[in-house]
Amino acid sequence: MRYLTAGETHGPQLTTIIEGFPSNVTLNFDELNFQLHRRQKGYGRGRRMQIEKDTAQIVGGVRHGKTTGAPIALVVVNNDWKHWTSVMGIEPVEDDSEGKRRVNRPRPGHADLNGGLKYNQKDLRNILERSSARETTMRVACGGVVRQLLAEFGIKVAGQVIRIGEVEAKREELAIDDLIRITEESPVRVVDKEAEAKMIAAIDAAKDDGDTLGGIVEVIIEGVPVGLGSHVQWDRKLDGRIAQAVLSIQAFKGVEFGIGFEAAERRGSLVHDEIRYTPEGGFHRATNRAGGFEGGMTTGEQIVVRGVMKPISTLYKPLQSVDIDTKEVFTAQVERSDTCAVPAAGVIMENVIAWEVAQAFMEKFGGDSLEEIRSNLASYLKQVENY
Ligand SMILES: Cc1cc2nc3c(=O)[nH]c(=O)nc-3n(C[C@H](O)[C@H](O)[C@H](O)COP(=O)(O)O)c2cc1C
Repeated sequence: MRYLTAGETHGPQLTTIIEGFPSNVTLNFDELNFQLHRRQKGYGRGRRMQIEKDTAQIVGGVRHGKTTGAPIALVVVNNDWKHWTSVMGIEPVEDDSEGKRRVNRPRPGHADLNGGLKYNQKDLRNILERSSARETTMRVACGGVVRQLLAEFGIKVAGQVIRIGEVEAKREELAIDDLIRITEESPVRVVDKEAEAKMIAAIDAAKDDGDTLGGIVEVIIEGVPVGLGSHVQWDRKLDGRIAQAVLSIQAFKGVEFGIGFEAAERRGSLVHDEIRYTPEGGFHRATNRAGGFEGGMTTGEQIVVRGVMKPISTLYKPLQSVDIDTKEVFTAQVERSDTCAVPAAGVIMENVIAWEVAQAFMEKFGGDSLEEIRSNLASYLKQVENY
């Protein structure tokens, strides 16, 4: 199973094609659009999130509410496009055209300069239009599709914000359904109400100072069978693939599983998870410090992944840069921008991880239809039970 996305942040639409998705899965369109709406929420976002309310149109691979096994084509129209038709038009225009809104001032912390040099583009708009996090809309749409496949097998995905700037949320052991419900009601996607108020205050304070904030997000996947991914080849290790997916989200700079970086400080006896067996529960771990992986394969415990997002690069208190025409130093101009996008980034993280898990699931149990996958999974689970 694979997908590619295309489209610019101010272009007419975003597009994706999912290839290899099985037939006979009932797709709930509201559930798919719910994921897109979740991505647009969260305290600390800029004005664009109020302009656009994303809705996916399915233009291939689904008939009468069910997938057919053909590639699933999805489109999200940019509602803002009407204001950008000349700037982002496909037709040729004069090089010095006013209407191009050429960008010649690379923004620190963005893809602008590297992309301009690499693709030999003197209009950095050609870089920023694609490097923008708007692109993640389609990755979330893909997540919105595969989550429905995972749900068929009882696999659940949850996410929570653990930190925004200096404010850390207290952790609570919660059933995954409670975690989903509580975080959904929070504007910063946290469980800890005291931290929630402090996070909102910290975002307001950063905004007043013309500054931005990053943070940490945790994603939990429950119900994953043992043995997704593989130890036999580096690029089949599922934890590695999840790490790549997380780091590919704009502004993500770190990833950890389970106790993560804390493992460096602890003795081995306080890091590794002891193996247990009960006739009813089969093999399991006494603890889950590893975050659901050993040897690049799922252990059957919860997958627990945390990602670190740097503060948004565009500051109202701007940083210095160099004009690509004059080579003179300037102070970056201010554009409308988010102060903190950590809650939204958490939604993106949930969905990109859901994709990786679903892809590994399809590699292991993949059939062409939902029924074939069910029977493959059942026979594997029997084998594990009788081991
Ligand atoms: C949900 C989300 C929203 C973002 N919003 C903004 C924004 O409004 N302004 C901005 O400068 N960067 C924003 N970013 C971050 C940039 O897209 C990112 O820093 C930039 O593309 C460079 O990529 P890198 O930080 O991974 O190197 C956002 C990222 C995410 C995930």
